[in-house]
Amino acid sequence: MFTEGKIGNLKVKNRFIRSATAEFGANANGTITEQYFDLYRQLALGEIGLIIQGHLYIIDEGKAHEKMAGISNQIQVEQLKRLVEVVHNSDSESKIIAQLNHGGVFSTSKKVPSIREGRESVEMTEDDIEGIIIGFKVATKRAKEAGYDGVQIHAAHGYLLSQFLSKRTNTRTDDWGGSLENRAAVLLNSYHSIREVVGSSFPILVKMNGADDPTDGFPLEEGVKVSQWLSDEGIDAIEVSGSKSTRTLKEKENTYFVPFAQEIKKHIGDTVVSVVGGFRFFSTMQKIRDEFADFISLSRPFIREPDLIQKFKNGKKVADCITCNKCFKVEDIVKCRAEE
Ligand SMILES: Cc1cc2nc3c(=O)[nH]c(=O)nc-3n(C[C@H](O)[C@H](O)[C@H](O)COP(=O)(O)O)c2cc1C
Ligand code: SF4
Repeated sequence: MFTEGKIGNLKVKNRFIRSATAEFGANANGTITEQYFDLYRQLALGEIGLIIQGHLYIIDEGKAHEKMAGISNQIQVEQLKRLVEVVHNSDSESKIIAQLNHGGVFSTSKKVPSIREGRESVEMTEDDIEGIIIGFKVATKRAKEAGYDGVQIHAAHGYLLSQFLSKRTNTRTDDWGGSLENRAAVLLNSYHSIREVVGSSFPILVKMNGADDPTDGFPLEEGVKVSQWLSDEGIDAIEVSGSKSTRTLKEKENTYFVPFAQEIKKHIGDTVVSVVGGFRFFSTMQKIRDEFADFISLSRPFIREPDLIQKFKNGKKVADCITCNKCFKVEDIVKCRAEE
């Protein structure tokens, strides 16, 4: 776990990734606040190989919740530049990636691939879809300008791109629905538009559900196929997740998405795979890393212990996070609230 890895051309000093974690601390206009600087300084000082920032909305109408930060305009970018500098200056080897998202049914615009029964929703027009693809491209240009070491496309957890992938939430009958090729087209086209603007050496990652739960909308065979297409097109890394991503675990550990990631890895050759969800024991991280995974991603353990890696280095065996989900509170900056 402590050996150097690579994602595209990006050197990552160990095999730990901090999976994107919404901070719930932005101003109403999507600019980040001072609280972000402390949070990310702690993570960088904690020697995490790669930090993926909490999701950023690519266009205003894709904002998924209150206090979410954005990368939809230049004012936001000026603050994000400072954040990237804080991370790079805290530890010269620290790397930070911007996660790009559109909330779909969870967004302020409620725009979705197709109308959702029982939920306020607005079906996207052809122009809306083109706007999403351009939105990813322009947001990536801004991320590069801000100094990020790469971007991650958020195609997991039921947000817009994940809604397009699932036949439960995408019942369109045009070129963006029906076959898997059509359902994956917004993701693939967004990826292409990003690659076009940043060239081959800038890392582009994706976070995807290996499969949805229930699986009928997007089963593992489809997760594997989409991963293969992305791999063939040169994606630099796939972080494998699933729906119901922040489970409250009965046991201390249940690394629930490992089977998805293992199956995907079998089909994508050398493309880098990370797996997220439920890792708490160092020995399990090492085992899954030895078996197939290039990286292991963690979210909640780093909320509780930003210095967890140093503790692991010193012999700690298990993270303190008890997976109670009390940190999932939109009201205030993300922190461990287990004792509250
Ligand atoms: C407070 C909180 C915010 C999260 N925000 C994001 C996010 O912005 N983007 C994302 O892809 N996943 C997000 N997640 C999910 C995590 O990245 C991760 O996939 C999930 O928590 C499972 O990993 P863990 O068991 O290590 O926490 C969030 C999780 C938590 C607890
Ligand atoms: S609030 Fe609970 S789930 Fe969140 S970091 Fe603390 S112990 Fe872990």
